[in-house]
Amino acid sequence: MEKQLLYKKLAKYYDFIYSWKDYKKDAVKIKKLISKYKKSQGNQLLDVACGTGEHLKYLKSNFSCTGIDINNEMLKIAKKKIKRAVFEKGNMTNFKLNKKFDVIICLFGSIAYVKTYQNLERAIKNFYKHLKNGGVVIIEGFITNSEFKPNHLYMNIYDGKNVKVARIGTSRIKNGLMLAEMCYLIGEKGKINYFSETHELGLFDIGKVLNIVKRFGLKGTFIKRGLMKDRGLYILVNR
Ligand SMILES: C[S@@+](CC[C@H](N)C(=O)[O-])C[C@H]1O[C@@H](n2cnc3c(N)ncnc32)[C@H](O)[C@@H]1O
Repeated sequence: MEKQLLYKKLAKYYDFIYSWKDYKKDAVKIKKLISKYKKSQGNQLLDVACGTGEHLKYLKSNFSCTGIDINNEMLKIAKKKIKRAVFEKGNMTNFKLNKKFDVIICLFGSIAYVKTYQNLERAIKNFYKHLKNGGVVIIEGFITNSEFKPNHLYMNIYDGKNVKVARIGTSRIKNGLMLAEMCYLIGEKGKINYFSETHELGLFDIGKVLNIVKRFGLKGTFIKRGLMKDRGLYILVNR
């Protein structure tokens, strides 16, 4: 089965599937947090796992933006949308940009794609390597093990004039990973296509994440009320 179909073959439907999400409101909150925690003077911002660039769209007028993502199909859409930003292909656990940033963000639970604590440590170390003195890292957590509700079902509908998308998802835990099953019905140009896939995601405990952060000499804070009601934000700053 193809991995991460949503970010490859179905990338062109990503913005439809998440059309319910208020990226503009997210950006307002992110900017407030940056003002509160950033001590460095610059305005270089890196969005890790930037996807189709929806957050950058609302951050680009305040920051000099770079986006990084593992999937070319997502980057292609982001590049088209935001001409002024720099986009690079890379894995969050090992990307190398010869540059340091004042702000690094990694949002919408993307961090869960690293799956294991070992990879999470690699990713945080990598963020730290790319962070200026006085800079700030903002990571939007994914649901934690204790918050996981088995058999939970959800549905997203996009009812456009020329494209209609219905996605139904559910998830379960296997070998410590969350297996998020997703089924899509996509109607376009007189045809209806069906796709299904399973994403593998890590469920990380807040305390353990903050312990990893400490090892790199970063000071971590977890804010329970984040961008979405069930996901908090990790704020990391140099000590
Ligand atoms: C839920 S989407 C979030 C995208 C975007 N940040 C947003 O808020 O819409 C997850 C993103 O993580 C990317 N991704 C998955 N694994 C990754 C990795 N190891 N390194 C970098 N990006 C990754 C996917 O390609 C996808 O764009």
